[in-house]
Amino acid sequence: MRTQVGIIGAGPAGLLLSHLLHLRGIESVVIETRSREEIEATLRAGVLEQGTVDLLNESGVGERMRREGMPHEGIILRFSGQSHRIHLSELTRGRSITVYAQHEVIRDLVKARLDAGGQIRFGVKDVSLLDLDTQLPKLRFHDDEGAVRELACDYIAGCDGFHGVSRPSIPSRMRREYTRVYPFGWFGILLEAPPATEELIYAYHERGFALVSTRSPEIQRLYLQCHPSDETGNWPDVRIWEELHARLAGSDGWRLAEGRIFQKGVIAMRSFVVEPMRYGRLFLAGDAAHIVPPTGAKGLNLAVADVRVLAQALAAFYASGRADLLERYSETALKRVWRAEHFSWWMTSMLHRFHDESPFHHRLQLSQLQYVAGSRAAATMLAENYVGLPFEEA
Ligand code: PHB
Repeated sequence: MRTQVGIIGAGPAGLLLSHLLHLRGIESVVIETRSREEIEATLRAGVLEQGTVDLLNESGVGERMRREGMPHEGIILRFSGQSHRIHLSELTRGRSITVYAQHEVIRDLVKARLDAGGQIRFGVKDVSLLDLDTQLPKLRFHDDEGAVRELACDYIAGCDGFHGVSRPSIPSRMRREYTRVYPFGWFGILLEAPPATEELIYAYHERGFALVSTRSPEIQRLYLQCHPSDETGNWPDVRIWEELHARLAGSDGWRLAEGRIFQKGVIAMRSFVVEPMRYGRLFLAGDAAHIVPPTGAKGLNLAVADVRVLAQALAAFYASGRADLLERYSETALKRVWRAEHFSWWMTSMLHRFHDESPFHHRLQLSQLQYVAGSRAAATMLAENYVGLPFEEA
């Protein structure tokens, strides 16, 4: 088998790359170890930056997002018992975010690819990457019937997530990894209830962080800071509500509405970057190359930003033989990656309790929150990072 671009992983990065390449007349094959049902049911993030929304719209896959996604023009910081609104749109000349779940983006992209005759091979096994430093790299795998297949490509895109095979296929002497693991996790729940608030609430409390988000008019998404190795069994519903009410309590009368909890899970918190994001003819994109803690809502958006750059670089190569954009892919992508790494670390540090925290540190966090809530300059810094910085043109 032969294709132009072999793509490992049918997450947002791999599927969107395949779609963007298709729009430019470039052929790709996506291989994925999970089934279509599994990838469409994986619950992840929900916040899309303005630039992500624009790209999905411009590339013709935004129809359902425009109908079902929920545009938000602000977010709330809640601390010391009070809410403070950060007016994202006013601070960023009209930019906003849209709450639309990652698995909905995936469903829209899978449908667009399959409707256009695109090739996505689900349920493959034992994927390996060969000859990456030659002109004809290859993907070898067992297809869903167990037969060994080899796909020869011009280029390979490693979009297979943090635990995928792509990154470790780069010789370790050719890559440098930067990691920070946080001493806490997020306990996340889904519940049946109408939205308790019109905008997302990021709450700092001495018992720990809490986040009130949403999925739809009927389903809400809530998180609370927990121990990194915590388990759902430690969290009966009564304890969840007790903790959420305590962390979100205030003197303004607002109270979180309860509902039937139908899903619970613990999310680890880490920051990670590999440099460079390229080796020979392999390009990494999305979680395969970098992880951010979810506090800044950047993970999905960074994956989209990577493949936007990669699709442009591949298009320039196929249109005119120009390889300079491909040469610069890693450098271009990493600039945005490190900005998002800093922002996510900063939001995380400001909003969580640290186990070794001194009263001094606690006071610093409160002072920082008051400054962000009260200073237009500080609020603008948060807002422009949160809605997503503009793209530098290639
Ligand atoms: C979510 O709705 O899942 C969500 C929202 C905001 C975040 C992280 C996760 O910062």
